[in-house]
Amino acid sequence: MTASKHITFFAMVFALTFAGCKHNSPNVTFMPDMAYTPGIKAQAPGSMRMPVKGTVSREHQSYPYRDVLVAGRELKNPLASTAAILERGQKMYNTYCIVCHGAYGEGDGSVVPKYPRPPSLQSDKVRGYADGSIFHVVTMGQNLMPSYASQISADDRWATIHYVRALQRAKHPTAEDLKAAGQ
Ligand code: HEC
Repeated sequence: MTASKHITFFAMVFALTFAGCKHNSPNVTFMPDMAYTPGIKAQAPGSMRMPVKGTVSREHQSYPYRDVLVAGRELKNPLASTAAILERGQKMYNTYCIVCHGAYGEGDGSVVPKYPRPPSLQSDKVRGYADGSIFHVVTMGQNLMPSYASQISADDRWATIHYVRALQRAKHPTAEDLKAAGQ
């Protein structure tokens, strides 16, 4: 349709719509649709469509473990310890963990001793933990340590664990590491 035909068309529709229209509201409403919607305040009870019971958002991954050692046995680190992953882990560690745990995880972060000194990540206990156990602590929190599940994605938590392993290895080098370093 050309522009002028458009105008003619609308003029006709307009004329037909209001032809013989004496009242503001007709006696019979043809297809009322949303003409008479009840007034409901936004977010008032009854106005919200609640999700079906048991609905879980796609972003939410349920975390089933309640025990640090069971998580350690059953969860495997899905990431390989590559240079890029270690760098990502370092970034996460320096953002979220270092303030409490310190640069090498020895419990000497900048908030200590105002904040109670956390246990060392260089301990036999944590060095002996499977990756899944460390993942569990970071995901669920433990006593004074809060959960980081909402701040650090699962992948970034796993990357952080690779970095913690690198810190442990830096303080407890293997014979091979020492040889490679020429000592
Ligand atoms: C606000 C300070 C704080 C931050 C930040 C923090 N932690 Fe902790 N962390 C603690 C404290 C305190 C404990 C000891 C909790 C307890 O008493 O069981 C702990 C415990 C741990 C443990 C278990 C140690 C053990 O011997 O049981 C691991 C592993 C750990 N943290 C790793 C991390 C990692 C990785 C991060 C960063 C993602 C992190 N933490 C961030 C304070 C913190």
